[in-house]
Amino acid sequence: MSDTNTDKDGLLNDSPACEIVPEKFDIEPFTMVIFGGTGDLSQRKLLPTLFHLCMDQNLPDDFSIIGLASSKRTDEDYRELVKNAIIRYGDDDIDNECWDRFSRHIFYVSGNFDEEASYRNLSKRLEEIAPANKNSMKEVLYYLAVPPHFLPDIFKHLKYCRMCKDIFDNRVIIEKPFGRDRETAIELNRIISRSFDEDQVYRIDHYLGKETVQNILFFRFANSIFEPLWNRRYIDHVQITVAESLGIENRARFYDSAGVIRDIVQNHLMQLLSLVAMEPPIGFDADSIRNEKLKVFRTIRAMDDDYIDSYTVMGQYDGGTINTENVVSYRQEKDIPSDSLTPTYFAAKFYIDNWRWAGVPFYVRTGKRLARRVTEISIHFKQPPLTLFKSTCDVREPNVLVLSVQPQEAIVMHIGVKHPGIGNQLFPVNMKFNYESDFPGDVHFPLPYERLLLDCMKGDQTLFARQDGVESMWSVVDPIIRRWDSSPTPDFPNYRAGSWGPDEARALLEKEGRQWRF
Ligand code: BG6
Repeated sequence: MSDTNTDKDGLLNDSPACEIVPEKFDIEPFTMVIFGGTGDLSQRKLLPTLFHLCMDQNLPDDFSIIGLASSKRTDEDYRELVKNAIIRYGDDDIDNECWDRFSRHIFYVSGNFDEEASYRNLSKRLEEIAPANKNSMKEVLYYLAVPPHFLPDIFKHLKYCRMCKDIFDNRVIIEKPFGRDRETAIELNRIISRSFDEDQVYRIDHYLGKETVQNILFFRFANSIFEPLWNRRYIDHVQITVAESLGIENRARFYDSAGVIRDIVQNHLMQLLSLVAMEPPIGFDADSIRNEKLKVFRTIRAMDDDYIDSYTVMGQYDGGTINTENVVSYRQEKDIPSDSLTPTYFAAKFYIDNWRWAGVPFYVRTGKRLARRVTEISIHFKQPPLTLFKSTCDVREPNVLVLSVQPQEAIVMHIGVKHPGIGNQLFPVNMKFNYESDFPGDVHFPLPYERLLLDCMKGDQTLFARQDGVESMWSVVDPIIRRWDSSPTPDFPNYRAGSWGPDEARALLEKEGRQWRF
C-alpha cells in the first residue's frame, strides 16, 4: 500500500492527520423555564432544538423543561403540543424511545406574566421538580420567549418572589430586540440588573450561533498568513451583505414598528462587522472577545446629518418576482398600512477610526425581498503596485477574500493566475474551502439555537451580547434612525422585489470607483 496520501484531485495531501476528539463538557442537571412556552419561537425553534439535544445525548440525565403560558393545560396536554411542534418544525424523526426519554422531563405551569400567583405556582413547581446540581443548587434557566413589553413585569415578579439569585442558581435568556434605542436599552438593563447580575444574562443574537460566523474568528486567528494583511495597508475596502429574499412573513406588526435598522443592522450586521474588524483577543474567553468587539463599536465613526444624507441609503420594496414567484410590495403586505414609511433596505459606508482601519471603507447593506438569500463578508485587497502582466479581462481583478456565511458555507479567495498558453495572460480563478465538500459525511453542523442553548447550559457567554456592546451598537445606529425619521423619505417603494436594492445603493460605491460584488 502506498504511504502517500492524495486528495480527490490527485495532489499530495501532506497536512498532518488531525483526529478530532469530541470535546467533552459536563452539563449540570438544570431546569429550563420557557416563558411563552406555547408561542411561535418555542414551537419553531426551542422545543425541537431541546429534543434534538436530548437525542444527541447532549443533555444530562436529569433535567426539566417547564413551559409557562396563559392557557390552561395539563403536563400531558403540553407534552402533546411539544410533540406536534417537533414533528412540524424539527428535523428529527421522533422514535418512541427517544420521545419517552425526553417527554418525561416536560412540565407545564399555566399563568399570566403579570400575576404574582403565577410565580408562586412556578416557584412551588420548581421546588418539587427541579433537579439539584453537584453543589446541591437548583440551576434554573429562564428563557423569555415573549414580546418585549412583557419583560418588565417578568423581571419585577421574579425578583419580588425571590426567584432570581436567592434560592436558585439562575441564568436568564432574552431575545432581541434589546430596547428600541440606546436609552430604552439602558432602561431595560436597569430593570434586568435589579434582578440579575450581568454574568447571569444571556442576550441571544442567533447570528453568533452560526457555524460560519464563529469560523470568522478561527480563520483570522488560527492562521498566521492573513493577519499581517488584515489592515489598511493591504485592504482597499470591506463589503458586508445580509440579503434576504424573504419578506416580513407574518410579523407585520413587529416589523412595521421596527424597520430594517432595528431588525438587522443594530444586531446581526454589527456583530459581523465586529468579528471582521476586531483586534486579536487576549484569550478565547467571553470577556476577552467581547472586550475587543466593544472597542470596534466604539471606534465606528460617529455620523452627523450631512454624512448620513450622503452615505446611507434607505429603501422599501415594491412588488416583483423572486424565483419565478410574484410577490407583493411591502405596503400591500397583510397588516401593513398602505402609506407605511418603514424602510426594508439599508446600505451605508462606515469607517472604523483606529490604527488598523483608518481610511478603509466598510460598505454594508441588508434588505428584504432582494434577489436571493446571501450573507457574506468580502475583503477587497488593494491592487498590486505595478501592472506587469497583460490581463484577459477588461478590468484587472483585485484579490478578494469572501467569507460566505449562507447559504453557501465557504471561504473563497479570488486570485490571478497565468492563463495556459503561449501568451502571458492573467486569468482570475478561485481557491475555495467549502464546509460541505471538505467535511463530507457524518459531520454535524449544529444549528444556531443548538449551539447557543448548550453554551447557556454550560455557562459560556462568549456568543452572547454584553450590555455595553448592545448600548454601543445602538450608539452607532441611533443617529441614523433619528435622521431617517426626521427627513423626507424617498419616494417609497424605491426598489423592486427580486432586485439588489435601490439605485442609490449602487451609486454609493460607484461614485467612489467601486462596485458591490453583485
Ligand atoms: C431575524 C430577523 O433576527 O433574522 C428576521 O428578525 C430575519 O427579520 C432573520 O429574517 C434572518 O435570519 P437568518 O438566519 O435567516 O439569516
